[in-house]
Amino acid sequence: MTSISSFSAPNSWIIETQNTSYIVAIASNDFIQQRYWGPKLPRIQDYLLLDLVSNESFSTHRSDDFPAWGGYQFHEPCLKVRFHDGVRACVLRYQTASVEQDTLTITLADDTYALVAEVVYRAYPAVDIVERFVTLRNASPHPIVLEQALSAAWHFPIRDQFTLRTLAGMWAGEFQVQDVPVRLGKTVIERRSGSTGFANTPWFALTSHPTATETHGEVWFGALQFSGNYKLVLEQTADGRTYLAGGINNFDFEWRLEEYETLRLPSFVGGFTTGGYGAASRALHRYTVEHLLPRATAHTPRPIVYNSWYVTTFDVNVENQAAAAEIAAQLGVEYFVIDDGWFGARNSDQAGLGDWVVNAQKFPQGLRPLIERVQAMGMQFGIWVEPEMVNPDSDLYRAHPDWVYHFPQRPRTLRRNQLVLNMARPDVQAYLFDALHRLLSENDIRFVKWDMNRHFSEPGWPDAPAGRDREIWVRHTWAVYDLLQRLRTAHPHVIFESCSGGGGRVDLGVMPYVEQFWMSDNTDAYDDLLIQEGFSMAYPLRTRMAWVTDNLGFNGRRPLPLTYRFHVAMMGALGVGADLSKWPDADRALAREMIALYKEIRPVVQLGELYRLRSPRHNALAAQQFVYQDEAVVFTFLSQSQYGTQHIMLPLQGLEPDALYRVWEPRTAEPERVVSGAALMAQGLHIAMIGDYQSRLIRVRQQGRVEAN
Ligand code: GLA
Repeated sequence: MTSISSFSAPNSWIIETQNTSYIVAIASNDFIQQRYWGPKLPRIQDYLLLDLVSNESFSTHRSDDFPAWGGYQFHEPCLKVRFHDGVRACVLRYQTASVEQDTLTITLADDTYALVAEVVYRAYPAVDIVERFVTLRNASPHPIVLEQALSAAWHFPIRDQFTLRTLAGMWAGEFQVQDVPVRLGKTVIERRSGSTGFANTPWFALTSHPTATETHGEVWFGALQFSGNYKLVLEQTADGRTYLAGGINNFDFEWRLEEYETLRLPSFVGGFTTGGYGAASRALHRYTVEHLLPRATAHTPRPIVYNSWYVTTFDVNVENQAAAAEIAAQLGVEYFVIDDGWFGARNSDQAGLGDWVVNAQKFPQGLRPLIERVQAMGMQFGIWVEPEMVNPDSDLYRAHPDWVYHFPQRPRTLRRNQLVLNMARPDVQAYLFDALHRLLSENDIRFVKWDMNRHFSEPGWPDAPAGRDREIWVRHTWAVYDLLQRLRTAHPHVIFESCSGGGGRVDLGVMPYVEQFWMSDNTDAYDDLLIQEGFSMAYPLRTRMAWVTDNLGFNGRRPLPLTYRFHVAMMGALGVGADLSKWPDADRALAREMIALYKEIRPVVQLGELYRLRSPRHNALAAQQFVYQDEAVVFTFLSQSQYGTQHIMLPLQGLEPDALYRVWEPRTAEPERVVSGAALMAQGLHIAMIGDYQSRLIRVRQQGRVEAN
């Protein structure tokens, strides 16, 4: 049965997922109006469907799902256009609608100027998600300039009080959970620097009063599938209406739709749950895994990676890399990744970016001898690239100084001694594909860490076709997606990791092209616990790469037990980035054990569902649980002891009440027990911990059913 049906009132559609309903209708003014978004109700007659069109002079009511600026409306529009004759008002009216399986397409058009908007709603019933996107088409013989083109507006029911959750952050401090009460007026979550960035992530969660917990409460949530400049505008008006409009940021944006051209705006997905933030995250995770991540690897556990960056930085050569690889292989690592420094004249961050040829001083016979040695150790080989960037001190820049974003009259601002290549240019796209395709064809490379280490400045494109220079904000992102896709098609065995100085390009837009993300340059395990928690609000942890690094290393300034460092990194895709040559035998032995243990639990943490049991933001003793099929893994972390041993009862989640579970704790003397799922979820595990930065890993596996007494 299809999840979309029209009902009772003409031109009304109900979009149903397993637990939710979303109702849209064509209002009396011919605009698309959202009438309901919330839990599925028992009967169709139960939905209270108000037509909110008002003709009062000062009314602020509105619930257009794709509002164009033009008529009598003053809220954040999705669309703002300029027609060839200078007219700036746009009035999109309903034309037709069609339903095909889980997709509803409503076509709107401007009466006078032949601008057509196909507004699409797609239901993902099993994961409780509704996807929305819009395709704009200029059906007239004249150009139409888009000054603003957001993907969707979402409307929330009237509540006394809403709280907005966002993931704010900075470099080395990404994904900080932030809850703010919604007040009258606007809150803007946006990015203007060319890519997703650190300050925010294009995701929101809105809860009503009393605020949701991890397990209870109504939460509306959504995420934009785009890695360029974005803008989400939440507004509450004094009449109690709350809505959010979001999409490509209109800041410095302009898009020229020529005769018969189309523009497909990024998808914006949304969902609703009464199960609190935990259920909201799991719905988005499931959607990501089932519908976004690269199909071939979406259900495959990620390999354990060793990366030499913090050990050798730019000073890489066959011998020091092979030496590092040797120890990594002995510990059980599966992929060896050489980071920055292997190409061009790259002896520091001052030169070489853009020249994607192997540095002949460091690797006189190319990379092959190193790759073969790594493979002989039983590992696959991976490499770091930063395709979108160029150092002025590079052959590429000397040959093509016009290939970077710039305004001829302005100095080109350097950051990390580099400039941003203009990826909107077809010649830049062709150069990068050729260079990377050659690299991957000539060498047996199975992993690519794709970095991006600065924001855009002077975003000029002097040679742009007339009127198209501001399109770089979108075209750059598209070109990155396209390049990734072409490389993936040509090299299907390569795993791609998105990195931007850490978690600067983490979003659902890039998700179809990469397996995983480098979550943060901050590898301090305690900081990582907090970053990881925020990341997991929106993104599945199988996509989170975290390395165990040395104490007092690049970002960590406190000594943390090795087990603790492993436990934190094990909650996702595990990596190691430490100088293993300096590790005492005991540490190496421990690392070998932890990696072996990780391999056992990897399907659970990577393919399973996440339950955030106790937040590190509020609890010195934090806990997280993963459940996959008949198995669960629980991690507990005590950051600091106070008043001696801390005892808690830790109820688990997501188990079968009637199943019996074996509970055991590897590498400890804790006695093994067999407990019913009901007991584990109601009474919980008794956890007692003392000390600073202590951690535990507890395993839980089904072992029969509860017999009736
Ligand atoms: C960025 C990345 C690091 C490393 C360096 C190399 O900072 O986040 O992990 O790859 O670049 O220059």
